[in-house]
Amino acid sequence: MKDLLNTSQRHSALIRVTHWINAAAFIALLMSGIAILLAYPRLHWGETGSIHTEAWLDLPLPFVLELGIRGPGRSIHFFAAWVVLFNGIVYLLSGLLTRHFTKNLVPALSELKPASLARALAHPHPSADTAEHYNLIQRLVYLVVIFGLIPFMFLTGLAMSPSVTSVVPFIVEMFGGHQSARTLHFFAANALLIFFLVHLTMVVLTGFGRQVRAMITGYRTSQASK
Ligand code: HEM
Repeated sequence: MKDLLNTSQRHSALIRVTHWINAAAFIALLMSGIAILLAYPRLHWGETGSIHTEAWLDLPLPFVLELGIRGPGRSIHFFAAWVVLFNGIVYLLSGLLTRHFTKNLVPALSELKPASLARALAHPHPSADTAEHYNLIQRLVYLVVIFGLIPFMFLTGLAMSPSVTSVVPFIVEMFGGHQSARTLHFFAANALLIFFLVHLTMVVLTGFGRQVRAMITGYRTSQASK
């Protein structure tokens, strides 16, 4: 009974469903992306690059092309990318219609003052525990991921597709060529991986069971009744 009294709604159904679909697709993208990279772990800049040309960055990873992991890796990668895209469209539309972004993620101008930012940096996770709102740093990082990194991954991904770039050449030209797009895609993937690891660490630090339960059921019990 005490638990019920201290329970409050934290996440809407659409955010929960789209979040978990995204999390599963992200893991598939990560694994299949690694498989694709291992087939050719060298990065080039510009339009072309091959085993016969000098690499811009030779990653200290083994070539494992002979295991034939690139084929299934690419199919899984493209499939998971479509899942993220359609799921992301549902998330964005629902976020706009319910004003989730403006209510819960976009900070007020007053919060962006150096003093508030410094305060939030000094205490990065207490409000994730206690308040119904996300912490300021958490909100800024989510916004960068949702409106920056994920769209950038899509653009650089599409820029690598000859069937897309033959119709919309601008998409590859703005990145300076197919190989540059691949290199940028690799660095953005690393940034997303860092976000993912920090995100999981913060979830663990603020109470893994309680946070994940809230992201599954939508409801969170307060600290006092956990
Ligand atoms: C299996 C791994 C994951 C777990 C356990 C997890 C857990 C969570 C939890 C518990 C929250 C709510 C945080 C809070 O209430 O303070 C959350 C929110 C969020 N997560 Fe994850 N997450 C995972 C994977 C991911 C991935 C892969 C991404 C994106 C690449 C992501 C992006 C987000 C975003 C953007 C939000 C805020 C959603 C909103 O309110 O609109 N998560 N996650």
